[in-house]
Amino acid sequence: MPADFELDVVVVGGGGHVGLPLAIALADRGARVGIYDLSAATVELINEGVVPFLEPDAEPMLRAALAAGRLTATTDAAIVGTAENVVVVIGTPVDEHLNPDPNAIPHALGQCSAYFRDGQLLVLRSTVYPGVTALVERMVADLGVDIPVAFCPERIAEHKAMVELFSLPQIVSARTTEGRDRAAKLFGRLTDQIVHLEPEEAELAKLFTNTWRYIKFAAANQFYMIANDKGLDFEKIRTGLMHDYPRASDMPGAGFAAGPCLFKDTMQLAAFSDNTFNLGHSAMLVNEGLPLYIVSRLEKRFDLSQLTVGILGMSFKAQSDDIRSSLSYKLRRVLKFKAKAVLSTDPYVSEETDDTLLPLELVLEKADILVIATPHPEYRDLVTDKPVADVWNSLGAGVVV
Ligand SMILES: NC(=O)c1ccc[n+]([C@@H]2O[C@H](COP(=O)([O-])OP(=O)(O)OC[C@H]3O[C@@H](n4cnc5c(N)ncnc54)[C@H](O)[C@@H]3O)[C@@H](O)[C@H]2O)c1
Repeated sequence: MPADFELDVVVVGGGGHVGLPLAIALADRGARVGIYDLSAATVELINEGVVPFLEPDAEPMLRAALAAGRLTATTDAAIVGTAENVVVVIGTPVDEHLNPDPNAIPHALGQCSAYFRDGQLLVLRSTVYPGVTALVERMVADLGVDIPVAFCPERIAEHKAMVELFSLPQIVSARTTEGRDRAAKLFGRLTDQIVHLEPEEAELAKLFTNTWRYIKFAAANQFYMIANDKGLDFEKIRTGLMHDYPRASDMPGAGFAAGPCLFKDTMQLAAFSDNTFNLGHSAMLVNEGLPLYIVSRLEKRFDLSQLTVGILGMSFKAQSDDIRSSLSYKLRRVLKFKAKAVLSTDPYVSEETDDTLLPLELVLEKADILVIATPHPEYRDLVTDKPVADVWNSLGAGVVV
């Protein structure tokens, strides 16, 4: 490494759900790490040793990294010029029309490119619309700096970051041998399993990974609706067919398939295939339709206009405080239109995030019927005499609604 780089790595968007765990993991492995993030509130928390969201084991590691002087966070883009490796992990959502924004990454880079220097390596780690790596390569070439560009997608799941960053194989791609070798060396700090692909292959590999999972959930959810329409318990059927049968061992249970990644990455792939991705769009209709399906089933059994419905769980997955793209909120919107009243609760989501949430006991007391929308472990031992719609089988009493 040229001696004049103060830091080994700067993570752009390093205050986010995947950027911060990466920064912490690299610091834990001895790297001198800087975080550059636009959010002043996030940067302040990080420098105080606070992880702004739930991520098991991350906070003690953050504090150790700060104490060792191996990590610092700032909103000052100048830090980008001080690191040998610049890793970009900003958010890449689709817009309200489900269109990806291929310029999200180039735009973010434009805000700090004044600090790019010869000899750096630029690593894209956000999930990108295919072709963005090539776009960024052209952008860097136009700047006239000698910086290889690599695309090395993040594949961790939230809440498993501090384990998976060290255990998952890392896909590394770059156009040049130098870019490939330097990116492999950087991620070699975390894992010795490096998988080499070409940039366009790696971009699709990441989208295929998430879309595959999303389609599997959709298949399970469609099976659930087919069985449920006939009054049959999908979970009982699923458990039976999977028993000692390896070819079906990966069949997921039914449930809300949501969150900040699977849906939008399936839509990115759909846009990339000129909207001819029928399977992806069908998966979206099934998964996004599940809350409406549950409401329509409840309507068949109950006069919702006379009843208060309690929604248990608002985050997009169990033991999470992340409500981004959570289908619990879609469920709540639909129910607010149909039911006399809707109450909701979640032990992980803070009042700051949603100040309408109520304590579980109050919801159990006031609601006439309950829907378990997120399978938090806290709901497994629920005792109630009210009807419960439990598509996750949290109570172990079946999933018929
Ligand atoms: N969340 C996941 O589980 C997950 C898993 C794998 C991959 N990914 C991908 O990783 C990327 C980041 O996702 P996330 O969930 O961490 O998003 P996030 O919104 O939690 O984090 C993004 C961070 O970037 C900061 N930021 C935004 N624009 C910036 C800019 N121009 N300069 C500096 N900082 C900026 C934000 O303030 C925020 O802290 C996305 O492409 C996502 O698809 C996410």
